[in-house]
Amino acid sequence: MSRAAAKTRFLVVGASGLVGRALMPWLESRGHPAIGTQVSMKRPGLVGFDLRTDRIADKVGPAFFSDGTPTVAVVCASICQIDRCFREREVARLVNVVNTLRLIDDLSARGVKPVFISSGYVFDGERGYYCEEHERRPVCEYGRHKQAVEEHVLSRIPGALVLRLDKVVGDDPAQEHLLTEWHRWLAAGRPVTCIAGQVFSPTLVKDVARAVTRVVDLDLKGLYHVANPEFFSREELARQFALALGREAAIESKPQSEFAFDDPRPLKTYLDATKFIKAADFRFTSMRETFADFRARLGRLTS
Ligand SMILES: NC(=O)c1ccc[n+]([C@@H]2O[C@H](COP(=O)([O-])OP(=O)(O)OC[C@H]3O[C@@H](n4cnc5c(N)ncnc54)[C@H](OP(=O)(O)O)[C@@H]3O)[C@@H](O)[C@H]2O)c1
Repeated sequence: MSRAAAKTRFLVVGASGLVGRALMPWLESRGHPAIGTQVSMKRPGLVGFDLRTDRIADKVGPAFFSDGTPTVAVVCASICQIDRCFREREVARLVNVVNTLRLIDDLSARGVKPVFISSGYVFDGERGYYCEEHERRPVCEYGRHKQAVEEHVLSRIPGALVLRLDKVVGDDPAQEHLLTEWHRWLAAGRPVTCIAGQVFSPTLVKDVARAVTRVVDLDLKGLYHVANPEFFSREELARQFALALGREAAIESKPQSEFAFDDPRPLKTYLDATKFIKAADFRFTSMRETFADFRARLGRLTS
């Protein structure tokens, strides 16, 4: 029997973030019981869990792991701010590596299947269009964190999954993500500032949520790229987004060296998701569809 047929239960660690916030309602719509965690306690209905200090069994209760329900834990929790990972190196490594590995080991020891959400930042961004076989060569601390967890999970935890994402965007103007930031800038007549040479595969966050249940339904294991096969330079995505909103974007493109970054960004992080698309028979939402949904929702918000 597939896990879905048995109504797999989900634990979403980091349910208050961009990905977790899309995953929770998707799981609910599919009838999966789900518990989500957060640190900030800003959102109702989520359990408090802080990777700096907490053990998961103390937070969800021991019965959660002993009632025999097949359970999948999606690990979205992470310090994702690139420069913060560099500046607050010790705490970021504790959260993103040391205690994420402890969490994953705790879960797997209790029979829970871990799904670790990783990033195209494991690559150096020089060649782009990476597939799962390409060598990890991160250029920033955040990427090194993801590399360390990926290597542990893939080599030590049978049945575990690692899903690598590239840039995730939403279609909801009421939520915080790249497109809402750009929309604010456009509305204020402010130029959209881009790192020259950055190319990514912008992926709708709802597709990430759909992909998670798909990989679980299929009981996939190992490493998959979950990324929209469309890829754009940052400038071109901003230009197309502005056009879709009926605006003209002023785009300011400058080399990475002119930004006051503490840690470098890999430039070409777009991913080849063929392995996932074939295994899951999956269709990603195009950016044109995403922009249209964003615009329609914006119209409803402002009418
Ligand atoms: N968004 C993207 O474009 C993108 C691209 C590639 C990969 N990813 C990966 O996808 C995953 C989810 O990303 P996201 O965009 O949803 O991130 P996000 O919006 O920054 O959310 C991060 C989540 O981690 C939680 N968290 C932060 N510090 C924690 C701690 N000390 N202990 C426990 N939880 C903690 C946050 O809780 P609070 O809200 O309570 O602080 C939040 O729920 C991450 O692993 C990220 O690296 C994201």
